[in-house]
Amino acid sequence: MNAKELSERGKWGSKIAFILAASGSAIGLGNIWRFPMVVGQNGGAVFVLVYVLAVALIGFTVMLAELAIGRHTQKNPVGAINRIKPRSPWKFIGYLGILTGICILSFYSVVAGWAAGYLIKTVSGAFRGAVSSQVTEKIFTDFSSNPFQVLLFLMVVIGITTYIISKGVKGGIERWTKVLMPILFILIIFLAIRALALPGSGKGISFYLKPDFSKLNGTVILFALGQAFFSLSLGMGTMITYGSYITKSDNLVSSAGWVCLSDTLIAILAGLIIFPTLFAIPGIAPTAGSGLIFKVFPLIFSRIPGGDIFGTLFFTLLLVAAITSTISLLEVPVAYFVDERNWSRKKAAFLIGAFSFLLGIPSALSSGGVKLLTKIDFMGKMNFFFGNVSLAFGALLICLFLGYVWGVKKALGEIASGNTRFRLRPLWTFSVKYLSPIAIIIILFFIRTIAG
Ligand code: TRP
Repeated sequence: MNAKELSERGKWGSKIAFILAASGSAIGLGNIWRFPMVVGQNGGAVFVLVYVLAVALIGFTVMLAELAIGRHTQKNPVGAINRIKPRSPWKFIGYLGILTGICILSFYSVVAGWAAGYLIKTVSGAFRGAVSSQVTEKIFTDFSSNPFQVLLFLMVVIGITTYIISKGVKGGIERWTKVLMPILFILIIFLAIRALALPGSGKGISFYLKPDFSKLNGTVILFALGQAFFSLSLGMGTMITYGSYITKSDNLVSSAGWVCLSDTLIAILAGLIIFPTLFAIPGIAPTAGSGLIFKVFPLIFSRIPGGDIFGTLFFTLLLVAAITSTISLLEVPVAYFVDERNWSRKKAAFLIGAFSFLLGIPSALSSGGVKLLTKIDFMGKMNFFFGNVSLAFGALLICLFLGYVWGVKKALGEIASGNTRFRLRPLWTFSVKYLSPIAIIIILFFIRTIAG
């Protein structure tokens, strides 16, 4: 590696810095917005159960696989595959990841923009009287269907993301996550306690935590698996890219474990806020979809003394959590153009950021802004296709590539650096070679009937 490459790529300051940055990527709207949405649409507790299994058995496997590939090669996804298996079609994994990253970034930033809009609304006291679900429904509908506002906030989010990425991985990504993630965690625990104390919250708790197995079907499993990949930032090379910045002395296994654990905890806690509130204050269905959390959270803030302050803090932290994720989405294509095409970081960040903004416009206008886009649910389609199917497909290819092209032995050698006693070694080997790929293939095979 020459001097220019070194300075353009960077390294994490320490193991804890990596865990924070990777958790920063993983924890975001996926946990707080998307998780409650898909739980509500897929039968509640039974989905939660399948989700936790999917994270433990498949998510953790794929995360460790991506980190090992990334650290071994010290490259972006395309370069990484190329280094292990030069001039082979497996590079496709990398290209698919870059495309998927840009597409997820486009609609994800729309929702992050909603969080920004809600931050401003809360500061100006818009939710002070929002005691009933009719009021919060109307506020959301008016806001999300206003083309000017949603596009403005989309631009703000992508602008901030582009700016941070153009500054590089260390200065940009590390600084944000260190202080703010722990505060988010504490605030969420507090809000969950408040929600659980609402009279009538019991129904929500059983919807969320008492599985009804008659609701288990292929759709539930597909969405649970897709949600696991989405929430853990897997299947498109994010963790290959982040892994490439880890030093050889770090323990990949425990790092992956910590990221999976903290990410899952935050998602579970988010559900503990949403569902008790939803059932205690009737009017919003669990199947409300992408507006769900924006309709429910204000109901809690209107019931806490000093609710404006809590609301402001919450939406600030949600926005920060979202931006630590958008930067990881943008980092993948940027790392590719910097490493493989010799672009400068600035140029790559700016051009891809601008492109993502344009691609985000139809998503932004599909929640009431433009009739046709709303009718075909453009954002929902993007979310399903890139946030579920494409990630699952990418994860499948990563498992196959590691298991049968690079080889588990070599991967275990990479993992052994920084961790000489990897006790789950046989289990992980089994999962990466057989369990995960077979489970993903079965699910992808049923997709046509499911999506139908
Ligand atoms: N995991 C993030 C969240 O839960 C979103 C995200 C960031 C992501 N990078 C990703 C999703 C890569 C899939 C792939 O909010």
